[in-house]
Amino acid sequence: MPQPEQSARTLWAGRYEAAAAESVRRLNDSLPFDQRLYASDIACSIAYAQALHTANVLTDDETDSIINGLLQVRAEFENGTFVPALGDEDIHTAVERRLIELIGAVGGKLHTGRSRNDQIATDTRHWQAAMISRVLTLLTALQRALLELAKQHTETLMPGYTHLRTAQPISAAHWLLSYFWMLSRDVRRLELTREATLISPLGSGALAGTPYDIDRLALADAMGFVDISANSLDAVSDRDFVVGFLYAAALLMTHLSRFAEDVIVFSTPQFGYLHLDERYTTGSSLMPQKQNPDVLELVRGKTGRLVGHLTGFFNTLKGLPTGYNKDLQEDKEPLFDTADTLETLLPALIGTVATLRLKPDRMRAALDESMLATDLADYLVQRGVPFREAHALVGAAVRAAQTQGVALSALPLETYQAISPIYAADLYSVFDFATAIAKRRSFGGTAPEAVRLQIRQAEAFLSERGA
Ligand code: ARG
Repeated sequence: MPQPEQSARTLWAGRYEAAAAESVRRLNDSLPFDQRLYASDIACSIAYAQALHTANVLTDDETDSIINGLLQVRAEFENGTFVPALGDEDIHTAVERRLIELIGAVGGKLHTGRSRNDQIATDTRHWQAAMISRVLTLLTALQRALLELAKQHTETLMPGYTHLRTAQPISAAHWLLSYFWMLSRDVRRLELTREATLISPLGSGALAGTPYDIDRLALADAMGFVDISANSLDAVSDRDFVVGFLYAAALLMTHLSRFAEDVIVFSTPQFGYLHLDERYTTGSSLMPQKQNPDVLELVRGKTGRLVGHLTGFFNTLKGLPTGYNKDLQEDKEPLFDTADTLETLLPALIGTVATLRLKPDRMRAALDESMLATDLADYLVQRGVPFREAHALVGAAVRAAQTQGVALSALPLETYQAISPIYAADLYSVFDFATAIAKRRSFGGTAPEAVRLQIRQAEAFLSERGA
């Protein structure tokens, strides 16, 4: 965009003798970052012009002229010919100044009964709702990629972990789907946040409402909002919807960061469970052998910044006195940065998952029989031993196997029976990983049949959303 080249009057020049100091202008101006709201500002202004027409504030001709002028301003933004003027402190000022240049003094009627306080709250909501829809499209695409991979691996065995130590065998699909369900909560949260965003504050004026006959509900509807705010004083300073989005994004990032960490660890040469496609790794400038998981590290790293935006903005809000305060302009940069981060990172993550290859042999090789110790305890439970005792009897066997440096299945029957006479020759049937998994067919469990049910539920979740 071309640089400012002329100076212009401020919106409040009538009451002022002197222009603002240059340092104040630089501090106050939000146009450098809020100009991205131009399409929302203009769409909402077009609806507002129509509401003023219905309220008999604007004539037919005035309404047409204002709407055509606004469309021209929008075209200038779209084709990059809009030239900001020195007095354009924010997007509202810039659009109105240019509108009046284009259509004359009648353009000045657009702001009748409206304040930038209800205008910015409206624009930001309008922009955020559309942005959330774009993020949701990306997020469900990521879920789709996870689901497609999971479908191929319902019978692939891998160690399940607690404390990053092998615990019990699970299927690789089960591991992948655990992230699908985390993301499904993020999707729901974002959908609810979008709903809460689409409450129109327009018609609240600066704080007290408007004396003009504005049909607020019809106006909200024309802008694509679902409802209107109940209190004008609350409406102009309510940024809960921004907090809601920052929170939803921070929690989403927390989930993505955990996934990134898993993939980083599981794709190291030492684990070797996963293979990252070359296109989604980066090399080292020094060490020719390296393929680094930068995408995943950036997901993990950016999570810190996005959580910071949430806590930072909370602190902006906490001490504000009633009504609008300029502090509220501080919502834009965290909001835009969070949105940009998600819209940049999700496509790279989708590609990473879509090209991720599992290495079933390496996963299988990482299983060891001590991970079936619980199953051996269950074997004793089936023979009437209380679980707590069974736990101790298996513990003794695990210790014996460790001392002798052999697997549980290589421990002779005499050793087992020396620990407890309840152990019998059929105990060795426990030592089969696939059987152990198949037994865990409780709802939400890792058995292939339970996982196939999860997959059907996951499909339903995505198809409800057209993904
Ligand atoms: N740029 C301002 C913001 O983002 C618009 C509202 C300005 N209102 C005011 N009374 N100065 O919050």
